[in-house]
Order: sequence, then C-alpha cells, then structure tokens
Amino acid sequence: MKPPLQDLLASRLSLLKPSPTLLLAARARELKMQGIDVLDFSGGEPDFDTPDPIKHAAIQALEEGFTKYTAVGGIPELKEAIKEKFLRDQGLEFHPRSIVVSNGAKHSLFQIFQVLVNPGDQVLLPTPAWVSYPDQILLNQGDPVFINCREEDGFRIDPDALREILTPRTKILVLNSPNNPTGAIIDKKRLERIGEIVLQNNLLVISDEIYEKINYSNDPVPSIATIDKSVGDRTIIVNGVSKTYAMTGWRIGYAAGPREIMEAIDAVQSQTSSNPNSIAQKAAVFAIRSGEQYFEPMLAEYRRRRDWVVGAFNHIKGIRCIAPEGAFYVFPNISGLLGHSYKGVPIQTAYELAEFFLDVARVAMVPGTPFGSPVHMRMSYAASLSSLQEGLKRIADAVSLLE
Ligand SMILES: Cc1ncc(COP(=O)(O)O)c(C=O)c1O
Repeated sequence: MKPPLQDLLASRLSLLKPSPTLLLAARARELKMQGIDVLDFSGGEPDFDTPDPIKHAAIQALEEGFTKYTAVGGIPELKEAIKEKFLRDQGLEFHPRSIVVSNGAKHSLFQIFQVLVNPGDQVLLPTPAWVSYPDQILLNQGDPVFINCREEDGFRIDPDALREILTPRTKILVLNSPNNPTGAIIDKKRLERIGEIVLQNNLLVISDEIYEKINYSNDPVPSIATIDKSVGDRTIIVNGVSKTYAMTGWRIGYAAGPREIMEAIDAVQSQTSSNPNSIAQKAAVFAIRSGEQYFEPMLAEYRRRRDWVVGAFNHIKGIRCIAPEGAFYVFPNISGLLGHSYKGVPIQTAYELAEFFLDVARVAMVPGTPFGSPVHMRMSYAASLSSLQEGLKRIADAVSLLE
C-alpha cells in the first residue's frame, strides 16, 4: 500500500506551525463570510492605502515596459535610494553590494538565517517576539533561545539576562526595535551594553528595523549598527517599505550588512526567487526617496489611535496596558481576566480568552502565547478610530459578563 502523501513531506516540515495571526484572521474572515459582523484587529498591516504618487511610479514603470528580470538583489537605482536612506537616517554607509533587496523583510530574514545558521546553532530571541522568527530559525535547523523581556522594564531586553544565557553554541542575536508585538524601543544605553556583549562573544546581530518610522518618541529609533563601527560590522539590518509606506502587498524588503554575508544571500536568492518584482522596485525607489511626506500623516493618525486605545484598555477592570513607543500594536496584560468564567465555563488561557472575544464580543485579537507571553494579547490599531472605539466597547461589554 502506498504511504499517504502527507507522510512524504520532508521531516523539517513537522517543525512548522501555521502562523497563529493568520489562523485567527482566517477564522474572523470565515465568520464575516457567514454575515457576522466581526471587527478584526489581528493583522499586522497598515489600514491606509498606498499613497497615490507611489502607485503612479509603478504605473509609469509598467507603461515604460519595465517588466523584465532585473539584477537579482535589486536594481541599481533602488540600491542607491536605500544607500541614501541609510546615510540620511542613520549615518551608515553601505556599498551597493552590501545591500540585497528581497520579496519583503520576511524573505530577507529567512535568507539571512539560511546563510548563517548551521544545525544546532543557537539564535537568541528576546521575547515577546514576532511569531515568524522561531519558525524561520527552526526551518533552518537552528535552536531559537528565548530571553524574557519583562513588562516592568517596558519589555526592553535586559543585557544581564542576555549575558547569562550565552553558551559556546550561541551565534546570533535578533533585535527588533520598535518591537512587534510590544512596541518597545531599545534605548541607546542598553544597545551599548548589548554591543559590548556582542563583541566579547563574537556574536552576529540581526537588527529588524521594519517599524523604524512608526515611532512616537521624539528621537529617531537608535540602531545597534550605529553604536560603534565594530558592532556595525557584525550587524545585518533588515528593513522594507511594507509598514512605513502602507505597501505590504508590494513585497519589497531589504537587508544590509557585511559584504561576505550579503553576497551569500544574493547567491541564495539567485537560485530561489531571483529578483523581486520589477514594478514594485520602481515604486519602492519613489517611496524611499519621498522622505517623510507620506508617512507623517499616517504616523499622526496612529498616535491618536494609540493614545485612545491605551486609555480605553486601562479603563477595563482586569486589563492593564502600557503605552507602546512604536509600531501599531498594543499588548495589554489580561492576567486579571484569566480564571474568570463565562456561563460557568472557566477561561484559563489567552487562547481561550481570544476565542471568547471572537465568539461573544465579535472582536478578533491574537493571544500573546505564540509571541512568548501567555498573559497578554495583541491588538493592532491599524484600523479606523471608529472601529477601534466600537471594538473596545464590545470588549468592555464582554468582560462585564465574566463571573
Ligand atoms: C517584526 C517584523 N519583521 C518583519 C515583518 C515582515 O515584513 P514584510 O511585509 O516586509 O515581509 C513583519 C511583518 O509583520 C514584522 O512584524
């Protein structure tokens, strides 16, 4: 008898979990298709449309017939725009061959793990962390090692905890500032201490700066690459246009770092996806060169929503919520609700609470568990203020039903 096709899948696939954020969004979509009015705050993308002038740059590229293969790691014009951006925003200088443009920051990250991780290498992941990192590390046969960042520290990484967890197998540290899901920004002082540990232990750093521009503090978000040249020489920065310019569907992300590593990434990409979409690359050139004019109005709106949502959560008994410094998520602590019951059925976990909110409040939020915290939930406020207001009202009403 033939084995079922499922059994023929490569064994590494058993490590892969479907994205919990996408799963919840799928359930919310299902309910919506049944005509049920669900407010979905589970996703991770701007609710704004891509600004028109950026779209027009793509239309122009199409009309000019810019529809063929391009250089694998990005067209020279886009690499030049990225190079200028690094210099303008962070004072960092990169040779175009030290930059690789890929199909989104997620793709950049996967390829970085692919060229750096040997079986059994440990990759340090401060948590709460974006759900895709552990799976990407596992798929590349690495061991994700979690460092808990405490809410009392504003979810910022504690350099002493980092030092304590190191072993001879530790190779890479992943930083994500501003962070998804907490919005925490790692301050310069901490980065300096982390930089010392990196140098003392010959670590490599992956600095995921995709939310760099969604920053509510008065200062630019500091990057570990700018702390000191020798730390910069061990850092690969990941960024992209998805979040800043509301261009999630265009799939343009990029990485910049040491030439040897970036050339290896270019080689992997040349055998897998080849160049990112030619038309989207032209749009990205326009977006990156446009400076602040398109994202500033969006940032002002995110800030307004953040302030409102944080205040509203803190008015609900059993929930407390710190104000995130960046990105477009809140990460309220729901420990005060766990152990309560609805219609005699106890709610013990963040997953069960997410289901309760979906079933009773008709609001979709993601449990914090897959991000590394079982006592938080993530809500995206990349949604209109009126829908957030309605959503928070529904949550408050549902919580009032708990016994
Ligand atoms: C922390 C983090 N890094 C990377 C990405 C991926 O971004 P992209 O759309 O460019 O692939 C996301 C998207 O949710 C993210 O939250």
